[in-house]
Amino acid sequence: MTIPNTSIAGRVALITGGTSGIGEATVRNFVAHGAKVCFSGTRREAGEAIVRELSEQAGAGAVRFFRGDVADQSQVKALVKTTLDAFGRIDILFNNAGIACFGETPALAEEEWHRVFAVDLDAIFYACKEVIPLMRGQGGGVIINNASISGIGGDYAFSAYSAAKGGLINYTRSLALDGARDRIRVNAVCPGLIDTSIAHHSIEMPVLRQAFDAQIPLGRPGLAAEVAGLVRFLASDEAGYITGAIIPVDGGLTAWSGMPNMPRVLGMV
Ligand SMILES: NC(=O)c1ccc[n+]([C@@H]2O[C@H](COP(=O)([O-])OP(=O)(O)OC[C@H]3O[C@@H](n4cnc5c(N)ncnc54)[C@H](O)[C@@H]3O)[C@@H](O)[C@H]2O)c1
Repeated sequence: MTIPNTSIAGRVALITGGTSGIGEATVRNFVAHGAKVCFSGTRREAGEAIVRELSEQAGAGAVRFFRGDVADQSQVKALVKTTLDAFGRIDILFNNAGIACFGETPALAEEEWHRVFAVDLDAIFYACKEVIPLMRGQGGGVIINNASISGIGGDYAFSAYSAAKGGLINYTRSLALDGARDRIRVNAVCPGLIDTSIAHHSIEMPVLRQAFDAQIPLGRPGLAAEVAGLVRFLASDEAGYITGAIIPVDGGLTAWSGMPNMPRVLGMV
């Protein structure tokens, strides 16, 4: 029996939204494991600082930054071209960039709704439209989408975000079916509460933090590195039989049906 290769060394990865949080943790993880990485983001200074730091470890040219907005199709095309010009192929696409939007439907401006869909869903279509033909030509590849547990169930006052991430989850399944015969695996990771800037309010406000910690079975927010580890596994050949999977990284939150914790309510624990 052959044991699949766990390594992503030498593979070329394109990662969107890599200047902070889960994207940055994944850029660092991939580079540390020998991958060549082109990552995008909207903040030039942050991106260039990451490139300088990682180039010292991995060597000049192993990591590139592209400043651009993933909601703009022409900029996504330019991002893909930059990656190809630098490395000649794309083995792994991590559609990570995303924004959240808080508010019940009557309070949401049309612009907010459309912006969330543009960044959290349209942008993934633009990237896949460019990268899938390349992967077909190369004989395969791996796409990982960063969705959310808010796309698995609804969440209070997160209507636009839940709708876009729910769409991304089913888009992931469709991409997996369409890509299977071309050896393109497509999966989604679904973070719960992860300690990054997008979740800053929930983590910094004591009243919200207490509510989250009480609700999350593991009793704490997750770390960006704990999502990045799963992304690397999914990108590796060791995950070679996993496609169309929607995988929570949420400290057990979606394992819970929502019933009260009866032993705790009754004072038994
Ligand atoms: N942190 C959480 O609790 C959590 C939970 C569920 C899902 N997620 C998802 O994880 C992904 C990463 O978020 P994060 O938690 O690391 O937060 P983050 O805010 O640190 O990272 C988001 C990244 O996306 C980039 N980005 C945003 N809009 C962009 C655009 N238009 N073009 C290019 N880049 C853009 C930002 O610059 C940033 O680098 C998002 O898709 C988010 O929805 C996060």
